[in-house]
Amino acid sequence: MTAIVIDGKAFAAKVRGQVAEHVSRLKDEHGLVPGLAVVLVGEDPASQVYVRNKGKQTVEVGMASFEHKLDVTTSEADLLALIDRLNADPNVHGILVQLPLPDHLDSDLVINSIDPAKDVDGFHISNVGLLGTGQRSMVPCTPLGCLMMLRDHHGSLSGMNAVVIGRSNIVGKPMAQLLLGDSCTVTIAHSRTADLPGVVRQADIVVAAVGRPQMVPGDWIKPGATVIDVGINRIEKPEGGTRLVGDVDYAGCAAVAGAITPVPGGVGPMTIACLLANTVTACCRANGLAEPQGLTA
Ligand code: GUN
Repeated sequence: MTAIVIDGKAFAAKVRGQVAEHVSRLKDEHGLVPGLAVVLVGEDPASQVYVRNKGKQTVEVGMASFEHKLDVTTSEADLLALIDRLNADPNVHGILVQLPLPDHLDSDLVINSIDPAKDVDGFHISNVGLLGTGQRSMVPCTPLGCLMMLRDHHGSLSGMNAVVIGRSNIVGKPMAQLLLGDSCTVTIAHSRTADLPGVVRQADIVVAAVGRPQMVPGDWIKPGATVIDVGINRIEKPEGGTRLVGDVDYAGCAAVAGAITPVPGGVGPMTIACLLANTVTACCRANGLAEPQGLTA
């Protein structure tokens, strides 16, 4: 079998198109411009690239982008004061504090100081609890993007066996909650899981989110399964230079799977598209308007 390649780049472009349509309607019918504030503390190069891309795409879909770049020595009190101002600002519907934060800042404290209604990352403890109890919440962007691709490919996920490899708060745990919400039978596997190959071989859906390059070989995959690769790892090429690879051995898994997301061009582009979708959702909720269909969990 040669897997269908799920094109996350094209899917993300479609989601951005839907977001742009909603933004245009909010402007025309309600005079509203959804606004996203991104806070970056320090100069981590990867974070700078992410923040730049977020700002650019926010503007491209017609939303307002507010970037706050703070010095690496910024105190917790100053950061919390900025978040208070953004919480109170009616032009800001979504707030994202780029992680990781410098060591002297308490990430949990900072994230939990964001108004949960503006927490477009879905990391606030209230949103985590709401998602875990099946209530309306803001949903973390990467798992939301994975869910959208899975629903698009399969229609209903009901009754499918899903194995999520990785138990992070950002991807693994919320991904498992979303799959459970769509009536999958869900296993969260991790570094201590006994017989990981045997567990993964049971899966109709495999979501790999461990951050270890190419750790899932093709012979762990049940023939015809769908493989969603969340990993983005930079490795050395034998001939020199580097390249990006996921958490699965792409060639090996694509030979067995029914469908697979590539790296790059799979899950990655969906994350920012879902951030924009969450910002529109937050804007609609804040103004008592109907939420955009198909852009939420
Ligand atoms: N750093 C890497 N990914 C993310 C993300 O999805 N949200 C935030 N806030 N920081 C990140």
